[in-house]
Parts: sequence; C-alpha cells; structure tokens
Amino acid sequence: MIELAKRAKALKPSPTLALAAKAKELAGQGKDVVSLTVGEPDWDTFARVKQAAISAIERGQTKYAPSNGIPELRAELAKQTSSQLGVTYDPTEVVVTAGGKMIVFAVLQVLCDEGDEVIVPAPFWVSYPPMAELAGATPVIVSCGRESRFKMTAEQLEKAITAKTKILILNSPSNPTGEMYSREELTHLAKVLERHPRVMVLSDDIYNRLTLDGSELAPHLLHVAPQLRERVIVVNGASKTYSMTGWRLGWALGDRTVISAMSNYLSQSVSCASPFTQSAMVVALKEGDSDVTQAVTNLRQRSETAYAALRAIEGLDVPKPSGAFYLWPSVEKHLGKKYRGQLIKGSKEFAEQLLNHELVAVVPGVEFGAEGYLRMSFVVSEERWKEAMTRLARFISELTT
Ligand SMILES: Cc1ncc(COP(=O)(O)O)c(C=O)c1O
Repeated sequence: MIELAKRAKALKPSPTLALAAKAKELAGQGKDVVSLTVGEPDWDTFARVKQAAISAIERGQTKYAPSNGIPELRAELAKQTSSQLGVTYDPTEVVVTAGGKMIVFAVLQVLCDEGDEVIVPAPFWVSYPPMAELAGATPVIVSCGRESRFKMTAEQLEKAITAKTKILILNSPSNPTGEMYSREELTHLAKVLERHPRVMVLSDDIYNRLTLDGSELAPHLLHVAPQLRERVIVVNGASKTYSMTGWRLGWALGDRTVISAMSNYLSQSVSCASPFTQSAMVVALKEGDSDVTQAVTNLRQRSETAYAALRAIEGLDVPKPSGAFYLWPSVEKHLGKKYRGQLIKGSKEFAEQLLNHELVAVVPGVEFGAEGYLRMSFVVSEERWKEAMTRLARFISELTT
C-alpha cells in the first residue's frame, strides 16, 4: 500500500480552483453557469506584451534562464519598485520565478523553521495558511471584522505576536475583501513592528495598482516606515495588473540575505521562469503603463456598476471595495434559513445551493477564514453580472425561516 507523507495527506486542493473546476464541469454538461469564482482579469494580455513574447521565441529565447530571473527584468523591477515604494532596491535584491504563488511559498520556506508562527489576518487569501504549514510553521489566524473593515489593528497585531512569531503577512488591497490599509493604519502597525525586531513582513502587493478609489498605488508599509526595509519582503507579479495569469511570473524584492536564499531554493525546485515570458515582462514594464491605466479605468467603471447591482438586492450588506476585483457581501442574516427545505447553515451551504439551483458559482467566505460572507469576482461581462444578480436575487427571495 502506498503511504503518502503526512504533509501530502493533510493537503487539500485550493478551494477557489476546485470551485472553478466544478463550475467548468457543469458548464461542460451544457449548463448555463455564471462563474464568479476565479481571481483573474477577463481582459486580454496586452497586445504589445504578446508580441514581445513571440519575438523573444523567434530570437531563440527558449532555453533555461538564470534561476533568479534575467538581468534586464530584475533591473527594471528594481527601478520601478524603488520608485513606487520610495526605498532603493538593487537588481541583486530581486528574484523572479514562475508565479507570485511560488514566490510566497519560497518566502515562507526560507524564513520559517518548525514551530515558528506566521500571523495571517483573516479574511485571508486561501493559500497562506497551508503554505505556512508546508513550511513547518503554525499559521496564527487573527480575525478582523467588519468594524475595522476586515483589517488588522495595531492592538490585534500586538496581541498576536509571541516569541515564536516569524512573519506577518499583509495583503493590501486584499483578496478577498478588496479593502486597502490606509497610511495611518500602516503607521500604527509599523509602530508595533518596531517593538518586535524578529518579526518579518511578507507584503503581498499583487493588487497594489488595481485601485478603485482613484489613487495610483495602494499605500504601503514602506511608504510610512522605510526603516523597516530590511524586514519587509515585497511580493508582486504579472498576473493581475497585466492580466498574465497563465504566463506564471512573480517576483520578490528585499534584503539580499533572503533574496539569495530564495534564489537557491528556486534553483533547486522551479529552476527558472521561462525566458520569453520574462523578456515580454520587460516590455510590459517599460511600455505598458498606458495599457494598465486603461485597464484600471475600465475596472473602476465595472466595479461601480457591479457594486450598485449587488447592493440593490434586498437583504445583502455589501462593503464598497477600494481595490482588486472582488465584492464581499455579507449573507449573515440569511444563515439558518432554508432553501427548498435545505438548511443554509453557513456560507458553504449558501454557495452550494446557489450553484446547484441557480448555477451561479461564488466562493464561500469560510474558505477565507471569515464565515458569513461570499467572494464574488466581478471581472465578467456586464451582461453576465446582471444575469448572476437576477439569479441571486431570486435565490434569496426563496429563502424561508
Ligand atoms: C493575494 C494573492 N497573492 C498571490 C497570488 C498569486 O498569483 P500568481 O501566482 O498568479 O502570481 C494571488 C492569486 O490569486 C492572490 O490573490
């Protein structure tokens, strides 16, 4: 009999990808499913970026690349991130690999020892706790409620830190809530961090240019506390801002000790991100600003329409997001009700029944560590969003006490 390792036995597939797969399966059976599950833009990768990849392939850039990324890309990332965050990075303080997800994984792998604690504010991106566990660490989940707009307060951080705390994970704008930390909130967190010099910060900035409040860039911990530079690992990637989810490109910037360890780790695992995607990324960074601006303008318009339509549904409480492309409505007041005789115990049952009966796929909040909410990705066509709203409203109207 095959005996799997403990870490493999404990693993569950990513719930967002699993739900998206179920929605696809139903659609494959000819059902008219509206899937609002996946965190991926629906606009195309920018034409100039696709063209750059094609010419890189034609120039023969199809072999192994350096395991920390091609020098031109690291240089451009160092330049742009330095200017965005107001601290200086050298190209040797940049590492590039196949996707932001692998970058987050590698940060945890090189920083955590068995028994270390990783503070994860909830609601959280689904992969943080299992990744911390795979690194031998214990995820310490800190529940952040509606009263603080799902953000961790300085008091909560202070309380959560112990002698074992190794990393605090910050993700702003947040997946799943779309909330953004303000400069003031970050200043309070920074003050706590200054009192605890062992604690590192993984700042997952993957949505930091997809702001919905008119700002160009989300406020950053390093904007208000550049003195923490040595302890902050900045994580970002091509997937969201450049609509390149399938290209698999992510990067980290930070102190050379951590970045070198990550490069070694990645050289023994992933080897490298493909060279032609990296070459195309250089073009995206150098020439893609107008494309990003246009995509963000479009995103803002759609967020307004999507938010208004969701809010119009009776019995839903919807916080207005300030970044990313998710809405995070509360369905708390419907929990405990019944749909066609079936008890809606929690967000999981809500999402299940909604998918089974109305063919609308959403992710239950419980997967993000916050019961009573749903995550709905609004980067679908206006017509599909409208259709989803009609079905959701009908579903809610059929709930009985
Ligand atoms: C918060 C957050 N971080 C990181 C990632 C990783 O993205 P990728 O691996 O596509 O770069 C995602 C993707 O969903 C995300 O939502």
